[in-house]
Amino acid sequence: MPETTPRGLTGLAFGGDYNPEQWPESVWREDVRLMREAGVTLVSVGIFSWALLEPSPGAYDFGWLDRVLDLLHENGVRVDLGTPTVVPPAWFYRAHPDALPVTARGERLAFGSRGAICHSNADYRAAAVDITTRLAERYGDHPALAMWHVHNEYGVPVSACYCDSCAAHFRRWLARAYGTVDAVNEAWGTAFWGQRYASFEEIDPPRLTPTVGNPAQALDYRRFADATMRENFTAERDVLHRLSPGIPVTTNFMTALSQCDSVDYWAWGREVDLVTNDHYLITDGRRTHVNLAMAADLTRSVAGGAPWLLLEHSTSGVNWQPRNPAKAPGQMARNSLAHVARGSEGALFFQWRQSRRGAEKFHSAMVPHGGTDTRVWREVVELGASVGSLASLRGTRTEADVAVLWDWHSWWAQNLDWRPSEDHDARERADAFYEALYDRHLTVDFAHPEADLSGHPLVVVPALYLMTRAAGDNLRAYVENGGTLVVSYFSGIVDEHDAVHEGPHPGALRDVLGLTVEEFSPLPAGGRVRLTGPGGAELDADVWTEFVVPRGAETVWTYADGLTAGHPAVTRHRLGGGTAWYVSTRLDAEGLDALLGRAAEDTPLAPRADLPRDVEVVRRTGESGTFLFAINHTATDAEVPLGTAGTELLTGGRAAGRLAVPAGAVRVVRLDG
Ligand code: GLA
Ligand code: ZN
Repeated sequence: MPETTPRGLTGLAFGGDYNPEQWPESVWREDVRLMREAGVTLVSVGIFSWALLEPSPGAYDFGWLDRVLDLLHENGVRVDLGTPTVVPPAWFYRAHPDALPVTARGERLAFGSRGAICHSNADYRAAAVDITTRLAERYGDHPALAMWHVHNEYGVPVSACYCDSCAAHFRRWLARAYGTVDAVNEAWGTAFWGQRYASFEEIDPPRLTPTVGNPAQALDYRRFADATMRENFTAERDVLHRLSPGIPVTTNFMTALSQCDSVDYWAWGREVDLVTNDHYLITDGRRTHVNLAMAADLTRSVAGGAPWLLLEHSTSGVNWQPRNPAKAPGQMARNSLAHVARGSEGALFFQWRQSRRGAEKFHSAMVPHGGTDTRVWREVVELGASVGSLASLRGTRTEADVAVLWDWHSWWAQNLDWRPSEDHDARERADAFYEALYDRHLTVDFAHPEADLSGHPLVVVPALYLMTRAAGDNLRAYVENGGTLVVSYFSGIVDEHDAVHEGPHPGALRDVLGLTVEEFSPLPAGGRVRLTGPGGAELDADVWTEFVVPRGAETVWTYADGLTAGHPAVTRHRLGGGTAWYVSTRLDAEGLDALLGRAAEDTPLAPRADLPRDVEVVRRTGESGTFLFAINHTATDAEVPLGTAGTELLTGGRAAGRLAVPAGAVRVVRLDG
């Protein structure tokens, strides 16, 4: 059985992507000296090195990598060794131009950046397995080897290819999934617009069409593209398991939707030995620590709650957003330790030494262009010491209060064309509900709609347009057994083929919510509505309204104006031992807080009114004890009540009663007992 933690690490992982091939060997000595100074324990090597390892077909040059691995080993740095299959060399494409991916418009992309791969291409597949085999044979039992890093960020920059090999592969995939072409016709509803197929041979990828194409075909193509990448991952993984037994194999995920939306990480989480993630702050004016927490919670959830590892984030600014601000002093440590609080067994960065050449030279690194007499370097060294002091929390798990349902298939379906309103954005709703829970100091587990939800007193469904019957039944059983469910509008509408569930909306959820939706009535651009509720309390909403017909549910808030005036806006349905809430419009932050406050009263969750806003409090617990993280994202000193006294691990002091968390600081208390 492969291990599930990096081999040979005794504490948490600290380090980053190390690309020594970009530097003369004289710099390598300096690198390892600085790595020791910073407390680096793990680096990722060789992710983009294929052209250097195999300079011409079948001719290998492993000498430089031997020297890198030996040097790291001599200096006590463990290695996360990449398979370089995200960048086949130029010579490979000269021989196999068909391995370059083709867009839906029919343009073939060129060599010269990275990730130019058609995952159906047989020559690519053979070459990827071959270079992986060579690496595993040579380094499979190297003493520096801690884990294998397959490929890089499957799903970006190319999420799907539309070439002829993919067309053939798609037909085989469909034949396996459906058996007969008639089953495809039925599932895709090809009676519409005369799209019927007489044989699999007639089916193509959803290439550019004159107007909107078949939505179920587009949805299946996303599933196919995801499954095809996974086939290539598992082919490499199996080679590594065979030739490098015991060593865990991972591939770096990007669970933040804004960074990769084409991969079903529920499925991938089951294939890796250790879940790893890359996360970059999206600096679009919103609270970046909230989008970080959400990505970290989602990563832990795809790991099934088990510890995972943050394989990349940035010490300061990135270089690929429209504007790339530097991180504020202390922000890097808050970011890194927030990931650790939410289950990461360490913190690694892209990248160790900032490049002088190439597309990423303006991306921050652990060793910046400015060298070691810089704020970034000093903070890196300080963070290395902090991470080093947290070794005892290895193997503990983050405690969560609430489950939020999440499903990439629903996300894909939701984003198909021709919906009731382009202003409705499933991602925005997921973010908004997450933020409302964050502001109530509730820690979130994400869950697949068909997963066992019984451990969570509150389950939130932000916008889950696609929901199978099985998922609907699951939610019904959850509520009947005493759970509290909160569902936002445009959820439970279609089945797995993007077909509207039979009968009134929301087909998968009618019973559990005790209502039907007669019509959607999205608002014009900029339109707003008011809701009146308990004790005359008013709420504000926009984007979406509905004509809701209660069929067992009670009305809690009512539309006060607009086309739906007088109709129910928010309802509550008691079913068995539990309660199901429904909100049929887009509430703002205040409205979501009011709604969640009411729903929380139906649960045993205690309000955390004693915790200041933007002071993040999260607990990890396990055999080695309970660890309370307090992260102060504000510019004001704060205090966090401690139920139990303990030892503060970053400063070494004792903590009891009220824990002082200075402005911008992080505290980690190992509670006594
Ligand atoms: C991704 C890649 C890295 C690097 C960073 C930059 O996560 O895996 O190679 O390009 O982005 O932010
Ligand atoms: Zn292709």
